[in-house]
Amino acid sequence: LREARWERARIGAALELAPADLVTVSYVLKELPPEARTGLVDAAAAAGQAVVIVEPGTPDGYVRIIEARDRLIAAGLSIAAPCPHDDACPIAPGTDWCHFSARVSRSSLHRQVKGGSLSHEDEKFSYVVATRFPATPAPARITRKPQLRKGQVLLELCTRDEGLSRSTVTKRHGELYRAARDIAWGDPWPPEGTA
Ligand SMILES: C[S@@+](CC[C@H](N)C(=O)[O-])C[C@H]1O[C@@H](n2cnc3c(N)ncnc32)[C@H](O)[C@@H]1O
Repeated sequence: LREARWERARIGAALELAPADLVTVSYVLKELPPEARTGLVDAAAAAGQAVVIVEPGTPDGYVRIIEARDRLIAAGLSIAAPCPHDDACPIAPGTDWCHFSARVSRSSLHRQVKGGSLSHEDEKFSYVVATRFPATPAPARITRKPQLRKGQVLLELCTRDEGLSRSTVTKRHGELYRAARDIAWGDPWPPEGTA
């Protein structure tokens, strides 16, 4: 980053970006009017070998991600994550929203501003990663916090071949069961190397 050149610019409808290995667009789409939003996604798709777009993990943040995902695919990119495929999202519009959670530490200023006392917060986000180079998406993605029960783990999944599905992994599954005990919301499933 020592070599980085920082530039400030207003994101408007007509935006050109220099070619880049990676373009990240984080928590910005919500700030923009629709025309500037689509212009930014199209410019990122044209410039980036890989594009990562992140929005707040709310129903409307998810809708913006799905709209951006459609544009990235139309521009010739392939989806690397979180989806296991480039097909339409299996969530029926308005019924749910694909999102994940990341624990982020709070600075003292952060705590003061938000009036919170915990040293961390669980930030909910929706995202999409698309690439121009070949990507190997996970066969499935864990879409909810796994439920641990005695001798079994209940998983909610978005899968490549069966859309949204539920899976119960029990002790009888051996190695897969041990993997399921350790798996987290947002992880690929099954973990690489397990059957
Ligand atoms: C929620 S912040 C996200 C900041 C950062 N990308 C991140 O992930 O932490 C949204 C940012 O978008 C900037 N922004 C809003 N509209 C913009 C526009 N038309 N052109 C450029 N920046 C804009 C705001 O100034 C603000 O810094």
